[in-house]
Amino acid sequence: MSPPLSRRGFIGSAAALSAAPAFARAAADQAAAPVPVNPLVRQRADAQIFRHDDGHYYMTGSVPEYDRLVLRRSRTIAGLATAPEAILWRHERTGPRSGFIWAPELHQIDGKWVIYFAAGPSGGGDDVFRIRTYAVVCDGPDPMTGPWSLLGEFQAPWDSFNLDSTSFVHKGVRYFTWAQREPGIDTNSNLYIAKLESPLKLAGKATRLTVPTLDWEVRGYKVAEAPAILHRNGRLFMTYSASATDARYCLGMLTADENADLLDAKSWTKSPQPVFTTCKETSVYGPGHNSFTVDEQGRDILVYHGRDYEAITGDPLFNPDRHTRVQRLYFAADGTPDFGVPVGNGPLPERFVSAADPTKLIAHEGARLIAGNPALAQTQFRQTPGRAGDRSVMLSPILMPDHYLVANKDGSLTLEPDRKTADFALRSQFVRFDDRATGTLRFAAIAVPGKAIGLSGDQIRLVRSRDATARWRAD
Ligand code: AHR
Repeated sequence: MSPPLSRRGFIGSAAALSAAPAFARAAADQAAAPVPVNPLVRQRADAQIFRHDDGHYYMTGSVPEYDRLVLRRSRTIAGLATAPEAILWRHERTGPRSGFIWAPELHQIDGKWVIYFAAGPSGGGDDVFRIRTYAVVCDGPDPMTGPWSLLGEFQAPWDSFNLDSTSFVHKGVRYFTWAQREPGIDTNSNLYIAKLESPLKLAGKATRLTVPTLDWEVRGYKVAEAPAILHRNGRLFMTYSASATDARYCLGMLTADENADLLDAKSWTKSPQPVFTTCKETSVYGPGHNSFTVDEQGRDILVYHGRDYEAITGDPLFNPDRHTRVQRLYFAADGTPDFGVPVGNGPLPERFVSAADPTKLIAHEGARLIAGNPALAQTQFRQTPGRAGDRSVMLSPILMPDHYLVANKDGSLTLEPDRKTADFALRSQFVRFDDRATGTLRFAAIAVPGKAIGLSGDQIRLVRSRDATARWRAD
């Protein structure tokens, strides 16, 4: 039970700001799109989430039993967490599609809903890994209701292990990219691309894009799989997943100019380091098998799976706790995606950019708060409900989830662990006021009436609530 708060302090702070007519909590904005909470959907790996032009988000992914194709639909990303899940198709009783069902993807091709997936036979031994790519097709306008039936098998260049296919259109041409084991190359899988003539037939020779050779690609298994495409800032970014599906699983990235010949392997440059990896500070392990979408405001969202613990007993492939997660995808000054770190469990974090000096954000170096623009993860703070009624909030850096912003009488702001004291319960409470007219917000300090989180030179300190340096833009 949190100790009682000083009502005088709370009323003082709220009055100091609510007296300014413009600063009213933008409840409508808050209600328009609820903030997703990670993990978004438990035990759904390899998730594909996309926003269709019907205004809905569709989500599919692998289930722990690997025995069926499922689909969810929601008007918001957050709504996918509780959306009903339709079972569209189940693996067959016998034959080549009676075992594992992996990594489905929903696509609309020539007006038809198609789901690509990898499947293998049941029965014993290694035959269950005789995985090949198939598609089912919907004989109706609504993918949630079907009816769905088998369209056939992907005509791959070799009769070998192939999976994790995706399709995209670029400059009016439809491409297909997938992971496959190539005869004569000692890896689990490499990435390939080709133009598509029809949903299961390539229009020409496949191009090998990458073979896992770097140390971070071959940990446990030599793997390049799960390609996903993002077209931004004049380039195509193809992320892929590498290494074993335990905590060593991570994202790599290939980049091509949007005007390049995508079927020429030399058009694609591989990032020498992984772009997204396990983060012990936020307790997300083995992030990977991603897709991309946009949120309700059109901002880029990274979709991926990850566990919230490191140690796995048995084969990670049969550990069910690869949960679906989402987070904002930002971009560096040169236009390349900045993946940061997997942000961890809880409501999505935000960045707070000073309205007075946009080069400065609320950030931290260790337990020291700073005003600057260091690495992305140092600028991401999670807002959680406070302990002074429903208008109070607490702020915590994603890299130090057990620390909170605390207001001090001398005007300083510090990061402190929850000391479970009345003093901490007062000093760690803020009230957020969003001003729709200016698109800015303020965080009033309940413990220091009339003061709010502000920019003071290259420091983050308490300033007068009405000062321009107390205004922030959430990003
Ligand atoms: O989740 C099942 C398979 O495991 C996926 O198809 C692949 O990306 C991962 O290695």
